[in-house]
Amino acid sequence: MTLDKRFQNLFLEVVNKAAISSFNFIGKNDKIAADKAAVDSMRQTLNKIEMNGQIVIGEGELDEAPMLYIGEKVGSMKGPELDIAVDPLEGTNFVAKNLPGALSVISIANKNNLLNAPETYMNKISVNTSETGVVDLDYSLKKNIHNLAEYKNKKPENITACILNRPRHKNMIEELKVLGVKLKLISDGDVSGAILVTDEKYGIDIFLGIGGGPEGVLAASALDAYNCKFQGRFIFETEKDKKRASQMGIKDFDKKYELKEIVSGDSIFCATGITSGDLVSGVKKINNEFLTETLITHKSCGVRKVVKNRIKI
Ligand code: FBP
Repeated sequence: MTLDKRFQNLFLEVVNKAAISSFNFIGKNDKIAADKAAVDSMRQTLNKIEMNGQIVIGEGELDEAPMLYIGEKVGSMKGPELDIAVDPLEGTNFVAKNLPGALSVISIANKNNLLNAPETYMNKISVNTSETGVVDLDYSLKKNIHNLAEYKNKKPENITACILNRPRHKNMIEELKVLGVKLKLISDGDVSGAILVTDEKYGIDIFLGIGGGPEGVLAASALDAYNCKFQGRFIFETEKDKKRASQMGIKDFDKKYELKEIVSGDSIFCATGITSGDLVSGVKKINNEFLTETLITHKSCGVRKVVKNRIKI
């Protein structure tokens, strides 16, 4: 079943308003307040939509997140049953420190079509081809880079890899350097990082490395609209993580998830810029208007565009 086109505008409004709510916290060095503003706004707007929504990716478990927690019902409780993944403020540091790249993000799909992802890390990979056998989480880094270079008819020196700049990636970064690959080391924001493979204009051939699992689900839903490849494997470090994963129905803790197992059927993805980044510009306030830019995809309609909005205060 395809998602109604009218949801594009309704969810666009959700992220626009959440982005505007965090706008006041840009550069205030308070990531908690910035996040709260986005969460409050997002919840309020979501609850006005005619739908039976359920948060599958949110701010965490009920005991740690009073709003937009995993399992929370949102919407008017009339209308279609939807799975909703949210990251009201992706890149809390970016807003707090007034750095590029903060987004307000949402993804929706029909009920049971988005993976219920636990709050753990995920090993991820994305490239702009859905062909099997080019890159794979199970291949060595060297094999992935060489295969991709051959597929793209490029030398490894002309491949650019995006990866979170973290100590856990020290060996991978070293190996990429040895392979001659160019790096784009990001300090945060791997939803955007994974999506940068979608268009040549971003200059990223491969995204890889370990980041948040929930962010992986959000990125996968955008990548699905571009027919890109995404794979993810959760990393369960503690017994508590494993217990929670079991409760969510995960039986194989080492499972490699293909994109279609993360998001199936139709989906809509919207990401509004809060601070300007690679994908979209940030919120601008001019007189009594806010200007926003949002990346929106709607798989069944082939929608993949950046829209600008003017919102009067
Ligand atoms: P926040 O928006 O919660 O600050 O997350 C930003 C982020 O960089 C994500 O994009 C990424 O998946 C995750 O944090 C990486 O986690 P860590 O900072 O622990 O490496």
